Amino acid sequence: MTRIGVLISGSGSNLQSIMDAAQAGRIDGEVVVVISNEAEAYGLIRAAECNIKTAVVKHTEYSERRDFDAKLVRILQENRVELVVLAGFMRVVSSTLLDAFPERVINIHPALLPSFPGTDGQAQAFNYGVKLAGCTVHFVDEKVDHGPIIIQAAVPVLSKDSKDDLKSRILSCEHKIFPHAIALYCAGRLRIKGRRVLIEGVDESLLAEQSLISCPGLD
Ligand code: GRF
Repeated sequence: MTRIGVLISGSGSNLQSIMDAAQAGRIDGEVVVVISNEAEAYGLIRAAECNIKTAVVKHTEYSERRDFDAKLVRILQENRVELVVLAGFMRVVSSTLLDAFPERVINIHPALLPSFPGTDGQAQAFNYGVKLAGCTVHFVDEKVDHGPIIIQAAVPVLSKDSKDDLKSRILSCEHKIFPHAIALYCAGRLRIKGRRVLIEGVDESLLAEQSLISCPGLD
């Protein structure tokens, strides 16, 4: 079983989906510690309700990013974490953390990267007027929302949608693909080849048939 450490900043609904999947045996791993940079993050309550150890490391108490990251690394290592999951963690991580966990840090971003990196990817996509939005799970490197992509899922943007409608459609999608990507990692099925991540033992025949994902009105 892979020992998973999850970093959060807020509501923790992705954390919940990961804890639920691990609890249900859909991930061959266990969440052993949840760390938040915000003391008030609701995700801390979710973790405590699942009897998972929590810690708060306030970024405001560190003037240097690397010292903040070094504290995170210390807690993760004390808990013998093997995979670090950024689930709505609103801080950019530095080489201090990445060097301690090479190719073992993954993140979810609420947009189809490389479009709309950074904060509020859903609103960026909505304001741009895209017809397909979505989310991306990727390995983390030193650039923001940039590392090799593990999985993406697309959702349509409907004409009646508000920004919040789109946000919640994307979030439901996040709750499906994030635990799935973590399950693939824990099963040892991911191979990083440069920028590409190959998933071993996956049947792509259906995907190959669906060459057109969304085009309303086209017969
Ligand atoms: C998610 O949309 C995630 O993609 C983004 O921040 C949000 C966190 O939501 N990075 P939650 O805390 O998991 O509910």
